[in-house]
Amino acid sequence: MLATHNLGAQGTDDKPLGDALALVTGGSRGIGRAIAMRLASLGAAVAVCGRDADALNAVTTQLAGLGGRVFSHVADVTRPADVDALVAKTESALGPITILVNNAGIGVFGPAHDKSEEDWDRVLNTNLKSVFLVSKAVAPSMIARKRGDIINISSLAGVNAFKGGGLYCASKWGLQGLSACMAEDLRGYGIRVSTICPGSVATAFSGTSPKDPSKVLSPDDVAHAVETIVMQSPKSFISQLQIRPLSKP
Ligand SMILES: NC(=O)c1ccc[n+]([C@@H]2O[C@H](COP(=O)([O-])OP(=O)(O)OC[C@H]3O[C@@H](n4cnc5c(N)ncnc54)[C@H](OP(=O)(O)O)[C@@H]3O)[C@@H](O)[C@H]2O)c1
Repeated sequence: MLATHNLGAQGTDDKPLGDALALVTGGSRGIGRAIAMRLASLGAAVAVCGRDADALNAVTTQLAGLGGRVFSHVADVTRPADVDALVAKTESALGPITILVNNAGIGVFGPAHDKSEEDWDRVLNTNLKSVFLVSKAVAPSMIARKRGDIINISSLAGVNAFKGGGLYCASKWGLQGLSACMAEDLRGYGIRVSTICPGSVATAFSGTSPKDPSKVLSPDDVAHAVETIVMQSPKSFISQLQIRPLSKP
């Protein structure tokens, strides 16, 4: 049966997102790469960005191997000029963006009172301001077409507090607020803004790697949550997914 989703009716059983164009920020590795690969395997044209050109080239080759249309662009999502160029070049290469996954993020941990203003700016600009900038750049074409999904990769740290999490939690709690308000602003246009809140995921996030990868989530678990959101029935709206590993760390 043809899957229903919020993006039109051009998909096929085999490639249900055949009419979709997804932009995944921070798509060069970790969770973002898994999301980009998942969306491409469902038939979406996929654009990815990051700051490291070599890493982007590698993932672009992997994405192209899935047979769909692919675009990559070096962009720092904390910089408004980079964001505007990213969105303009993506839309001119592939067409209007119908799925935006705001995934790029960093973690800086330790007591907030020990952190510098530079640390604060880096974390808040990457994890929160960038979502404002990229969503703002993409929203007009989604509004014009009255459809779209904006999926923000938050964290369980966006709904919980923990020792040493001050800067990171501030960015992700802020992201929860921004996402919930944007969801209200945009739902009348047929655009769903949602957050995914994973627990620890086995990536090289912030230079750390889990002690036991079998007891944390995998990037594919998060990609599956993105698939769940974009494949939901067209008139429903999953506003938030929290994901935990079944086996306790
Ligand atoms: N790993 C976890 O345990 C975990 C848990 C919950 C939520 N998350 C969230 O999941 C998201 C992805 O994390 P991850 O674990 O996949 O991290 P990762 O492996 O370190 O990947 C981060 C990605 O973001 C990109 N990026 C970082 N800063 C950027 C910037 N200023 N401009 C453009 N791209 C930028 C990186 O590319 P470049 O460095 O080349 O720019 C990379 O592609 C983050 O938002 C993170 O907060 C992670």
